[in-house]
Amino acid sequence: MSAEAIQAFKNLENEDFRILQVIEAAMTKHEYVPKEVIIKYSKFNEEEATFRLEKLHKFRLIRQTRQPYLGYTLNYAGYDCLAINAFVKAGILEAFGKPLGVGKEADVYDALTPTGERIAIKFHRLGRISFRQTRRKRGWTTEDTHWLLRSRKAAEKEYEALTFVYPKGVAVPKPISQNRHAIAMSAIEGAELAQLREIPNPKKVLMEILRNIRKAYLKAGVIHADLSEYNIILKPDNHILIIDWPQHVTKDHPNAQQLLKRDVENIIAFFKRKHLLPNANPEEAFAYVTGKGEKPTIS
Ligand SMILES: Nc1ncnc2c1ncn2[C@@H]1O[C@H](COP(=O)(O)OP(=O)(O)O)[C@@H](O)[C@H]1O
Ligand SMILES: [Mg+2]
Repeated sequence: MSAEAIQAFKNLENEDFRILQVIEAAMTKHEYVPKEVIIKYSKFNEEEATFRLEKLHKFRLIRQTRQPYLGYTLNYAGYDCLAINAFVKAGILEAFGKPLGVGKEADVYDALTPTGERIAIKFHRLGRISFRQTRRKRGWTTEDTHWLLRSRKAAEKEYEALTFVYPKGVAVPKPISQNRHAIAMSAIEGAELAQLREIPNPKKVLMEILRNIRKAYLKAGVIHADLSEYNIILKPDNHILIIDWPQHVTKDHPNAQQLLKRDVENIIAFFKRKHLLPNANPEEAFAYVTGKGEKPTIS
């Protein structure tokens, strides 16, 4: 999906971005924004607006309806282009590279800054499928049903978590910037624990994970809340990184303790299931990460 956006982006001019922005803003009121409304707020004449809309439609950045009126709505690719444009204007982004991870709830791309630094851009994608059903029941555009707002919220939350924990020395990608549903962060190397056929020195790896969970909790007051072998990267130097933080909660959250416990249990369960550390004890590990217990003895 964002492959389309990256391709289309090169062909877009300021006038096209203005149209995309007008549609974006009006989408809080309309599922499909009437062409009349787009003309009015873009301040383009009808001929210019028509030309721009047809171009954006041809690149599949917007979707069109003809009934009961002529109107347009953003596709994810159109929303992607707005975020990409903001990063380019801010001097953060120069060029896109290959996809790094295309998942259910996010697409991550390799990219370069104007100074040649490698970064990763993550586009959050939430609620594109289910929103049609919820819409009927709950009415158009509330904070929790609109894919645009939900995706932006996820990016804001993830970026916030990274800015809380990164300065405390927790092993996460370095946060660089956030716009709409996208975040820019340092690019990392390695593979998810879940993908690895072999984990060298599992005891050391588990201890490093627990130390980082503990640091995030005790120094930043942050709990990941979606931790598993899928969100832990083992780097080529055999150190770990914890990624994918949009679901984080702070330690004053009513379920903070349960969520922290579940994170620790998920990780321990993985090492047990793989017969790497059959005697690892989740209670000991939980006491350690909350600062109430000693370093656990793992075997
Ligand atoms: N900063 C990064 N640098 C390189 N690759 C990344 C980075 N962040 C994520 N990835 C890759 O993208 C995949 C998906 O990212 P993740 O944040 O877990 O999103 P989600 O699981 O919601 O799709 C990761 O498993 C990883 O392979
Ligand atoms: Mg993930």
